[in-house]
Amino acid sequence: MSRTALIAGNWKLHKDHQEAIHLVSDLGLRLKQLELGAVEVAVHPPFTDLRTVQSIVEGDKLPISLGAQHVSHHEKGAFTGEVSVAMLAKLQTRYVLVGHSERRTLFAMDDATVQATAKAVIQAGMVAVICVGESAEEREAGQTNDVLSRQVLAALSGLPNNAADAIVLAYEPVWAIGSGAAATAEDAQLAANHLRGVVASVLGTASANEVRVLYGGSVQPGNTEELLRGEDVDGVLVGGASLDAATFSEIVAAAVRCYG
Ligand code: 13P
Repeated sequence: MSRTALIAGNWKLHKDHQEAIHLVSDLGLRLKQLELGAVEVAVHPPFTDLRTVQSIVEGDKLPISLGAQHVSHHEKGAFTGEVSVAMLAKLQTRYVLVGHSERRTLFAMDDATVQATAKAVIQAGMVAVICVGESAEEREAGQTNDVLSRQVLAALSGLPNNAADAIVLAYEPVWAIGSGAAATAEDAQLAANHLRGVVASVLGTASANEVRVLYGGSVQPGNTEELLRGEDVDGVLVGGASLDAATFSEIVAAAVRCYG
């Protein structure tokens, strides 16, 4: 397996910048004790924490990549409340979540905006972590693959053919997020394999084999290894369990056992 695993923590609307100092310092100490090998770790704090986390990561040389949770697809201008890709890139941000289901459902982010945002992120030299996933109703109606195809095709349209190393896909079934009921390892693998096939249809097989596909939704230390066993699952996107350094580093340790 040539793909580097990615274990990413999405802090959502948690941790002020002082709490972020404690969390990232504690996490950094724990990660330094692990032989990370082919496992990359990223955190996605709120915007107000980014500068603080960047300083600690650089100053203490922590093995952590910096991520953001969202960004505007506009370059600049009269867009009150927004943050631009240039602002994130200036902070050495490497990853940006694009189209997380909470942005799609709570803030009306549609497929076209997801596409425009992914494009802006890539043009700024960062990696777009494009989040996709079906709702419980869509799953019950047998529409999972159709929904995933639609979301990925929309997100990838208009991206350059060599975008493979500038995108990561995150399969996050909406019903599994924050519910305590993660997808089974088998379902995560099936969805990841389907997503890779959709990428292949747009960017070609070689590129599709480079793209990392993550699973997200109620990931815990106890289910990480099983989820990562799927051959198309290249990492996890972790919400609640990333808010505690000990718990998140246990998830990283599980990944190291699989990939390290
Ligand atoms: P939980 O791990 O809390 O279910 O959240 C998943 C998620 O939305 C990560 O982006």
